[in-house]
Amino acid sequence: MERSFVPALRVPFLTPFFDPFMRAFMPEHRIKRDLAEWALASDIKKLLDFGCGTGTLALIVKQSRPDIEVSGLDVDPAVLEIAKSKAAKRAAGIDFQGYDGGGFPYADGSYDAILSSFVFHHLLDDEKIAALREIRRVLRRGGSLYLADFDRSSNILLRLAFELPRTLDGRDRTRANALGLIPSMLHDAGFGEVRRHGRYATLFGEVSLFEARIHAEGGGRP
Ligand SMILES: C[S@@+](CC[C@H](N)C(=O)[O-])C[C@H]1O[C@@H](n2cnc3c(N)ncnc32)[C@H](O)[C@@H]1O
Repeated sequence: MERSFVPALRVPFLTPFFDPFMRAFMPEHRIKRDLAEWALASDIKKLLDFGCGTGTLALIVKQSRPDIEVSGLDVDPAVLEIAKSKAAKRAAGIDFQGYDGGGFPYADGSYDAILSSFVFHHLLDDEKIAALREIRRVLRRGGSLYLADFDRSSNILLRLAFELPRTLDGRDRTRANALGLIPSMLHDAGFGEVRRHGRYATLFGEVSLFEARIHAEGGGRP
């Protein structure tokens, strides 16, 4: 069944402008580089970028570690076309795939790490929970999810700044982010250990990086 989703910049005709927008208005490269560096500090052979969008994060990973097998998954065929063309120009072998927003097209325990940036504030609470269950299923035992997204801001100005994405992307979709509920959702989804790595003040609110690890005795592949 095809599910509805919020495209990268809220409406489909703005998708080609997502990369210039992120470069101009967000500390995109700093956040994605930090997230990738944090993930790559552990022993990884296979990595998935969930909600990969135009593929910027997957490309950062592949460029710093060409030996790693990198995949990207997204619901939007239009954004995946941009990702594929960027990867082809850089001759980066990344497997970008589309899906219907339900079960991930991967076997249990097939990834050592899953990265995800700016996706969870696009998902309704039940979609967040379903995505976390799938992420947990396709991570190997001892593997981690590295997530960057809007979080409860530490001051009123940043909280006000998050009102624009909240209005555009939907107050229901952004509610858990605004209330700082992402860490408890990660715990509820069965991740054993959740750590916050960094906080970034942006024009649109505060962004946090989280690592959520599956205990070595949980998850799929040993
Ligand atoms: C703001 S963009 C971020 C893209 C990319 N991760 C980045 O940081 O540049 C949000 C992305 O989430 C994708 N998305 C929305 N709902 C999704 C779902 N249920 N599963 C996977 N991707 C989804 C959108 O298609 C879009 O590419």
